[in-house]
Amino acid sequence: MTTVPLGLPRRLVEFTLDGETVRAPEGATVLDACRAAGKDIPTLCEGDTLTPKNACRVCVVEVEGARTLAPACSRLAEPGMSVRTDSERARHSRKLVLELLASSVDMSTTPRVAGWIEEYGAEPGRFGEDAARVEEDPRVDNELYVRDYSKCILCYKCVDACGEQWQNTFAIAVAGRGFDARISTEHGAPLTESACVYCGNCIEVCPTGALSFKSEFDMRAAGTWDESAQTETTTVCAYCGVGCNVTLHVQDNEIVKVTSPHDNPVTHGNLCIKGRFGFTHVQNRD
Ligand code: SF4
Ligand code: SF4
Ligand code: FES
Repeated sequence: MTTVPLGLPRRLVEFTLDGETVRAPEGATVLDACRAAGKDIPTLCEGDTLTPKNACRVCVVEVEGARTLAPACSRLAEPGMSVRTDSERARHSRKLVLELLASSVDMSTTPRVAGWIEEYGAEPGRFGEDAARVEEDPRVDNELYVRDYSKCILCYKCVDACGEQWQNTFAIAVAGRGFDARISTEHGAPLTESACVYCGNCIEVCPTGALSFKSEFDMRAAGTWDESAQTETTTVCAYCGVGCNVTLHVQDNEIVKVTSPHDNPVTHGNLCIKGRFGFTHVQNRD
């Protein structure tokens, strides 16, 4: 059982959301209020364990009186504000963001994006066959995880998870500018020669599958990856006394990847190399 520590009670902020009066705890974002009201706002760079960088802009909403659209994931709810989540301007902007992203990178393994593309009538193909795309081969330079930057939307989540927000390893950062911007290790070194400690916390937050377990990458390549046939069992990592929660994803009686519950008050979805990748020892039968 996960125990959630109770903080001090927070004052409620009252504002208007799509014409309805709503209340949200002080410090809550517009996105928090939307979710509490059952509104489904698309998000990509937002993550429940990270402070967002407002990089993707797919969550924009219209705030009355504001010149520009606001990212719901980081705009705080303010008393008396009036927000429209479904205005023509907000929908048009989300559509354009989806078109620009899906026309430049491979979003085939991004959960829910196909549904959003349909919902917003986005046409990623409308820029024509000459539209610039990030085309590069997946980087397979170790046995634990694969980086496929042809699926990367430059959301910064992996950089933040590796750096100041969680791991403090700073093994990866954004290199290059404009269309040449890429997530990279220092001097583009292979992971094995970088500062990476293989915690996999970057994989945990990547929204597109650009970062994935080698096991998942291999199974997808072989056509055997089947999430509908997988079970998830949350247990306690036995490698040391910290007692991190690990969720084992099992397919055909094999552990195929390990995640960690984001609502755990100690780990917040983060693990070390042993919890994240030690599963290979469990099923090493040689
Ligand atoms: S595995 Fe950990 S240390 Fe390595 S790049 Fe990812 S977050 Fe950074
Ligand atoms: S690799 Fe994933 S988490 Fe990192 S910037 Fe690209 S899409 Fe975001
Ligand atoms: S999800 Fe809000 S800016 Fe990306």
